[in-house]
Amino acid sequence: VLYGVVLAGGTGTRLWPLSRAGHPKFLHPLTGTEASLLQATVDRLDTLATPDRIFVVTGVAHAAAVSRQLSAMPDENVLVEPSPRDSCAAIALAAAVIARRDPEAVMGSFASDHLIADKEKFADVIRKAVVGAKDGLLMTLGITPTRPETGYGYLQCGGELREDGPVLQVDEFKEKPSYDVAEAYVKSGNYLWNAGMFVWRVDVFLAELARQQPQLAAGVSRIARAWGTAEQEEVLGEVWPTLPRISVDYAVMEGAAAVGRVATVPGDFGWNDVGDFHTLGEVLTADPAGNVVVGSDREADRPTVLLHDTQNLVVVPGSERLVAALGVRDLVIVDTKDAVLICPRDRAQEVKHLVDQLKELG
Ligand code: GDD
Ligand code: MG
Repeated sequence: VLYGVVLAGGTGTRLWPLSRAGHPKFLHPLTGTEASLLQATVDRLDTLATPDRIFVVTGVAHAAAVSRQLSAMPDENVLVEPSPRDSCAAIALAAAVIARRDPEAVMGSFASDHLIADKEKFADVIRKAVVGAKDGLLMTLGITPTRPETGYGYLQCGGELREDGPVLQVDEFKEKPSYDVAEAYVKSGNYLWNAGMFVWRVDVFLAELARQQPQLAAGVSRIARAWGTAEQEEVLGEVWPTLPRISVDYAVMEGAAAVGRVATVPGDFGWNDVGDFHTLGEVLTADPAGNVVVGSDREADRPTVLLHDTQNLVVVPGSERLVAALGVRDLVIVDTKDAVLICPRDRAQEVKHLVDQLKELG
C-alpha cells in the first residue's frame, strides 16, 4: 500500500556507552532478540510495502553497516547522506526520489530506533493513515501521553474527519514544549504524543515543503533530478551542505497544522522510543523485584548477570565479564568493552551530559 522510508540517523547519545557514534542504537539488538532495531523496523513493514519500495536514509558513516544488516534490500534503496542535516532533509530527499518514480505515491516515514510491541495493530493504524494521506492530509500517529515528556511533539486533537474510522484533525502541532506547557497538555487530556512517524502523499509533502522551506525544497529537488545519474555525487556534494539543518517537526509539521493540513490516527500498539535506559527498562520484562536485564548478544552458556537483593535495576551486560550487584536499587548499570556506566534510573536522561563532557575531552 505504500513506500516505506526508514530514517537511520542520529547517534542516541542518551544510550551511551551502548550507543556510540560509530555504532548507533539502531544497529543494536536491544530487546535480546536477534534483530537490531533497524532490522525490526524494516521487518515491521513487510505487510505494508514490497521490498523494492522500502528505502533507508542513512549517513555515509553507517551505510556499510546498514547494507550488511539489510542484505535483502537493493543497494539503490539505501540513500546515503554526505553529512547529517536532521530529519527534514532526510525525509525530503526520500520523498523527492520516490516522486520521480511515482509522483502521487503515498510514503510512510519511520524512525529506526523505536520499539513497537504489537505489529498487527501498528499495521492497522498505518492502513488508516494511508486513507487520510490519500485525501491529501499530512498524517501523524498519536500516542496517549503518560508523562509530561519534553522531548516529544504534541498533537492537539480536534474533530473527526471521517465516518469510517478515527482520523482526527490536528489543531496544533507543538514540538518539544517546555515542562510546564507539556504538563498542562497532558492534564487537559486533549493532546497526544507525536510518534515521530508520518504518512503522506509525496506531492502533498513536497508542496508543503516548498511553501514553508523553499530553500530546502529547491535544493532537494535539484538533488533528486541528478539522482541515479553520473552527476549524483557532484550535485549532492555541492547542495547537501547548504540545506537548512532542521527537523521535519519544526520545519513542516507545526506550520502545516496551523493551516489545517495535519491529522492523526490515535494508535495503541505498544510504542516506545527507547530514548534512554530507564524507558528501555520499562518496555522489557522485569523480574518480580523490578530488575530488568537487557539481552546481550553473547552465547548464554554462562551467566551474564548475578543479582542478590536488588530492586528496580536496569542492567546491560557486555560481552566480556559477569556483572554482579548486591543490595542496591533504582540503578542503571551498563557494561561494555571499554566503558562502564552507573547512574540512578531516574537520571538516565542526563547521560547525554557525560557524552558532551567526553567530546570536550576530545
Ligand atoms: N537519515 C537521517 N539523517 N535521519 C535522521 C537525521 C539525519 O540527519 N536526524 C534525525 N534522524 C532520524 C532519527 O534517526 C530518528 O529516527 C528520527 O529521524 C527522529 O529524529 P530524533 O532526533 O530522534 O527526533 P526526536 O526524538 O527528538 O523527536 C521526534 O520523535 C519524537 C518521538 O520519538 C519528533 O518527531 C517528535 O515530535 C516525536 O515526539
Ligand atoms: Mg528520537
